[in-house]
Amino acid sequence: MYISSILSAASLASLALAGPVQVAERQTQKLRIMPLGDSITEITCWRALVWDQLAAAGYADKVQYVGSQNSNPQNCRPSTANWDQHHEGHSGWLAIDIANNYLTNWLKSTPADIVMFMLGTNDVFRGRSTNDIIAAYTKMVNIMRAANPRMKIIVDLVIPIALGSNSQIQALNARIPDWARGLNSTDSPIVIADCYTGFSTSYLRDGVHPSLDGDKVIASRVGPLLLDYVKGSLTV
Ligand SMILES: *[C@@H]1O[C@H](CO)[C@@H](O)[C@H](O)[C@H]1NC(C)=O
Repeated sequence: MYISSILSAASLASLALAGPVQVAERQTQKLRIMPLGDSITEITCWRALVWDQLAAAGYADKVQYVGSQNSNPQNCRPSTANWDQHHEGHSGWLAIDIANNYLTNWLKSTPADIVMFMLGTNDVFRGRSTNDIIAAYTKMVNIMRAANPRMKIIVDLVIPIALGSNSQIQALNARIPDWARGLNSTDSPIVIADCYTGFSTSYLRDGVHPSLDGDKVIASRVGPLLLDYVKGSLTV
């Protein structure tokens, strides 16, 4: 009795120091991936198909999707039945508004290790300038890094639209590589998933949103970059 209370006092002391406990928590913490975007993230199946890639590589129990939303509006049926349906996709939303008003709190509510985002289509529809969209991207990266200095970031080149001209989408996509290089860092890398090149407008089900063929293209461009990040994060 006496000895065991000494032992528990000792373990309380080490708890108070908290070093070993925190390390243990960090090691069991799943890697948190936030799919961030508009309806092309919310009401589509590419995030389900990317989950299949994570599962096929053996990471299903080691990673999780995070975000305030938990939904499968397209009734996607990937190979992995219990895929994680959390996300931060918001139909109709602009990059500019997400950067100015929302992202800070989203990342507070559901912290992330990796953010993958496609945004700008609704900004283009609302006539916002390429400069303003790129400025919103910069603001988002700053918010991500304030939330987590080691945030790993995937930015997508935006898929084309079939409703009207793609010149503004192309103008945005053309700016992204230099923008990303300019903000790139070792601690918080930014990589580009090219979801535009080879994405035929026939892969759109309604002129804006990908059909399953389009979802497959997005997943094939985003998934390998995400897997690289996951492998790198889970082995260090
Ligand atoms: C950012 O740096 C990483 C290496 O840390 C590199 O793999 C990646 O391609 C760079 N991103 C861009 C957009 O140049």
